[in-house]
Amino acid sequence: MGYRVAVVGATGNVGREMMNILAEREFPIDEIAAVASSRSVGSEVEFGETGKMLKVKNIEHFDFTGWDIALFSAGSGASKEYAPKAAAAGCVVIDNSSLYRMDPDVPLIVPEVNPDAIDGYKKRNIIANPNCSTAQLVVALKPLHDAATIKRVVVSTYQSVSGAGKAGMDELFEQTRAIFVNDEKTSNVFTKQIAFNVIPHIDVFLEDGSTKEEWKMVVETKKILDPKIKLSATCVRVPVFVGHSEAINIEFENELTADQAKEILREAPGCMLVDKHEDGGYVTPVECVGDGATYISRVRDDPTVEHGITLWCVSDNLRKGAALNAVQIAELLGRKHLQKA
Ligand SMILES: NC(=O)c1ccc[n+]([C@@H]2O[C@H](COP(=O)([O-])OP(=O)(O)OC[C@H]3O[C@@H](n4cnc5c(N)ncnc54)[C@H](OP(=O)(O)O)[C@@H]3O)[C@@H](O)[C@H]2O)c1
Repeated sequence: MGYRVAVVGATGNVGREMMNILAEREFPIDEIAAVASSRSVGSEVEFGETGKMLKVKNIEHFDFTGWDIALFSAGSGASKEYAPKAAAAGCVVIDNSSLYRMDPDVPLIVPEVNPDAIDGYKKRNIIANPNCSTAQLVVALKPLHDAATIKRVVVSTYQSVSGAGKAGMDELFEQTRAIFVNDEKTSNVFTKQIAFNVIPHIDVFLEDGSTKEEWKMVVETKKILDPKIKLSATCVRVPVFVGHSEAINIEFENELTADQAKEILREAPGCMLVDKHEDGGYVTPVECVGDGATYISRVRDDPTVEHGITLWCVSDNLRKGAALNAVQIAELLGRKHLQKA
């Protein structure tokens, strides 16, 4: 016996990956629904590569009663309107938007890091999925924190355009094409030209001069991993289609050498260490696409502090940063709380 699962935002970047991952991991499903906005009525999406085509349902008329789990990736507006309705109908919502992440009554889960926090989901029947950059960061930090207690992290991100949805990918493609054929180029999704450029601005500016994306990395890391960790982030959009990269500098309370860190990361859940000191002996975004791991390379001692290391980390933002993490949460929920006979 399996679950009745609704994927909300099924026509989007993350929703399509959710369909792929549910099928790939053979999540026990009795019935699956593809749900999106009224714009998608009449279209179809494939359930993974199974050949099974699903007619997209309009969320405005979708009744969540009798559905076990809803994986939401339709933006904060849709989550605000429909997630509480789904939750009230008895369907557990796993939400990809930022809306509920810092709600004290909503657990924010990365299964390799804080699986036990999922027990708090019953207060609202909603579980939040973190920001894509936070997810891969905490997977890399968790085993190192357990070993030597992290005091402070400085992280710079190199985030792909798929983090801004299908429209972000289209804008990079169109601008690149326009530059090559000498057409006029326009920027609608990003604040400046993204093709052949980098933009140190993701989400809105806050009063202190940081951006909301940077703030999310700070507060989400504290909620998931440890409120005592100090973190400074600079989030940058780069002209890469899929895969976020991060340069991470970590300062510890206790001694931890780069060699010890590598030994730990080699065995850590969700991590894949690729770190050869030779040309190409590290992972770049194009190599992580379609994969679930958080790849770690370039681990080295930081001689400027008493106990510190620097490393490079890459992951598929549509997978570990969104869809895979959400499906892993659904698996955890199934194992701990929603067991089917
Ligand atoms: N991309 C990432 O790396 C990433 C990582 C973590 C979290 N997220 C979050 O995941 C969500 C979706 O991201 P995405 O990259 O998949 O965006 P996307 O490619 O733009 O897709 C958006 C999806 O949401 C649907 N949608 C939009 N408004 C809706 C509404 N009012 N009611 C029902 N469905 C609606 C769209 O349906 P139509 O096709 O019918 O318009 C589409 O299926 C966002 O909240 C984003 O913040 C994304």
